[in-house]
Amino acid sequence: MTIFATYSIKGGVGKTSTAVNLAYLAAKNNFNTLVWDLDPQGASSYSFRVKPKVKGGSKELIAGDRELDGLIKATDFENLDLLPADFSFRNLDLVLDSRKKPTQRLKKLLSPLTKEYDYIFLDCPPNISLLSEAIFEASDILLSPIIPTTLSLRTLEQLKKYIKDNKLKHLQLLPFFSMADKRKKMHRDIIESLSEQHPDLLQSIIPYASDIERMGWERMPLAGYTNKSRSTEAYQALWKEISAIL
Ligand SMILES: Nc1ncnc2c1ncn2[C@@H]1O[C@H](COP(=O)(O)OP(=O)(O)OP(=O)(O)O)[C@@H](O)[C@H]1O
Ligand SMILES: [Mg+2]
Repeated sequence: MTIFATYSIKGGVGKTSTAVNLAYLAAKNNFNTLVWDLDPQGASSYSFRVKPKVKGGSKELIAGDRELDGLIKATDFENLDLLPADFSFRNLDLVLDSRKKPTQRLKKLLSPLTKEYDYIFLDCPPNISLLSEAIFEASDILLSPIIPTTLSLRTLEQLKKYIKDNKLKHLQLLPFFSMADKRKKMHRDIIESLSEQHPDLLQSIIPYASDIERMGWERMPLAGYTNKSRSTEAYQALWKEISAIL
């Protein structure tokens, strides 16, 4: 069992698209897979056409008054389940802060599910907070999409420093380029120089593509409405590369 978090300090970089599409591919390969939508915006819940509502909200969830098991919804896809978001998740930081050992809470909540699922994807909200710390404790792998812009180097370095300073040795950071537009010289230049400076960046690159952008409209993973394209191939290559590392 492996727990992935699609995580970045930055917003709008492709975290949700990554969680939804990679979870779809894992499930299609017959692995029992769960996506936990931890973002109050509920984007991955929306993509799977599941209502973003959790009985009892963040308080009862974090207090452990509700078993996660009872909150899980099936999706339209075999082997693929979803734990939906709830608008109260905007207060997850505060709710966590009121508990003992807040950074251990998610790990503890997830532990009964580790027997049921081969892969769990945590779709994270953008920021670095107490919730992120709890996510880092619970996860094995941080999948971090990087848009090739000048700020992205700084973001990646901040994240690496954070992991090092906090001695999160169990956590493997797998950064990869997202929304890369090879027609733009700046994107090509940044991809080249960042790849040299950070050889741990994955080789697979998710292109900027209108069929991926349409996911929010179609409300399903890319492969649900596109047969074969550069984008479906890019996600397949990314999943293959990640699977080989596990
Ligand atoms: N490779 C891509 N090419 C084009 N558009 C994309 C691509 N990836 C994501 N998008 C679009 O960009 C927007 C943001 O993507 P997504 O929701 O996956 O990012 P996010 O990091 O989860 O955002 P947030 O921080 O708000 O949670 C969405 O409208 C999505 O459809
Ligand atoms: Mg998102």
